[in-house]
Amino acid sequence: MVDWSVNSWRNFPIKQVPEYSDKVKVVNVEKELSLRPPLVFAEEARRLRKRMADVAEGKAFLLQGGDCAESFAEHNANNIRDSFRVLLQMAVVLTFGSALPVVKIGRLAGQYSKPRSSPFEIIGDIELPSYRGDMVNDMEFNKNAREPNPERLIKVYDKSASTLNLLRAFASGGMADLTKLHEWNLEFVRGTKEAEKYKNLAAQITSSLEFMNACGMTPENTPQLRETEFYTSHEGLLLNYEEALTRKDTITEEKGWFATSAHMLWIGDRTRAIDEAHIEYMRGIANPIGLKCGPSTDPDDLLRLIEKLNPLNQAGRLTLIARMGVNDIHKKLKPLVSAVKKSGLIVGWCCDPMHGNTVKASSGFKTRKMDDIMTEVKGFFDVHGEMNTVPGGVHFEMTGQNVTECVGGVYAVSESNLGDRYHTHCDPRLNATQSLELAFLLADLLAETRGKVGKPFSVIA
Ligand code: TRP
Ligand code: MN
Repeated sequence: MVDWSVNSWRNFPIKQVPEYSDKVKVVNVEKELSLRPPLVFAEEARRLRKRMADVAEGKAFLLQGGDCAESFAEHNANNIRDSFRVLLQMAVVLTFGSALPVVKIGRLAGQYSKPRSSPFEIIGDIELPSYRGDMVNDMEFNKNAREPNPERLIKVYDKSASTLNLLRAFASGGMADLTKLHEWNLEFVRGTKEAEKYKNLAAQITSSLEFMNACGMTPENTPQLRETEFYTSHEGLLLNYEEALTRKDTITEEKGWFATSAHMLWIGDRTRAIDEAHIEYMRGIANPIGLKCGPSTDPDDLLRLIEKLNPLNQAGRLTLIARMGVNDIHKKLKPLVSAVKKSGLIVGWCCDPMHGNTVKASSGFKTRKMDDIMTEVKGFFDVHGEMNTVPGGVHFEMTGQNVTECVGGVYAVSESNLGDRYHTHCDPRLNATQSLELAFLLADLLAETRGKVGKPFSVIA
């Protein structure tokens, strides 16, 4: 990598970072973080890059989801378990419906910072720094709480380490066992149409497993049946944190630099200027990375960004995460897909149907409509169908909790219900039922894309 070092980003203009008043404390925190062990291992990140290469080629489907912003207050075992469960349920629906391996990546174990549209928030005649996620300051609206505190970076490291530890235990310790599928159901999903569909699907998988069992393949002798690969990701926003955890791979031949705060990092739509700090940092790390592309993305700029972020044109290195909004998806995505296709540059395409569809309900709550989310996903598949390219995956915001933040869905959260259980620290998330509903739609779209006869779930629909 020419003229790159772990801290070369410091020579470039940077957006969306906090102003700390105590600069000495910042340096001490960075020093302390740089002495901590890495959270992930380079070889894992390299393996994910291989999985993402399959995604780019249509041999696997990417499922990336989790909280908009994790919070310290809601960091506990039950929440982690429930998010993991919903993601696995979705993965099972997708694997069965599409007959493709599903690459599972959580927006988890590090997703604690947020870019904001304004550096200040004004309520009445008081102006304070905006809340930038628990990694930076506190959501409460008072001067003390909103003061950025560098020690929060250490707390993020600690919380992320314990989240990751539990996720690893779940992934390989029995929680992902396909023979226990029916036990994954969450209390409040019971009785809904989605739960019925899921139960039906679990029954079909159980009979396949019984058949395999009779043939001699059991969870005891076939680890693939009881374990899963689960990866973590977050927006790589606070580059001093990322720098402190960027380590040289000393074990394998390819002695690259890896971000070890997560397996995958993505670049936000607000920090993707080609001559600025975030692109400078990301171009040098060897992890698989994502690039969010909003409606303002220009096709030529995009090609230049891709060349800069993936100069060797390696499959699996770069995934473009389109977040256009339901009204723009056809108009804005197609020129990008077309330009990339013509250029011969290799990328994976992923759909974020959440961030382009945030609206303010009359009650004042920020929300998203299930209909818009589903329609954007369909539009994403349409565009790739027309271009004969690969609709590689989805990226979405969800929680395993029974929240009422997005409206619509079979369980019909209405605008007047939004206040019932609105707990997000940032953007509105799909709840477990809505997430499952999205998974069933995706399974149908994937089955169609693959030219299968009939829809696997229309039996009950
Ligand atoms: N190991 C396979 C995979 O991860 C099959 C599998 C095991 C699985 N447990 C799972 C798939 C849970 C989805 C969800 O894909
Ligand atoms: Mn968000």
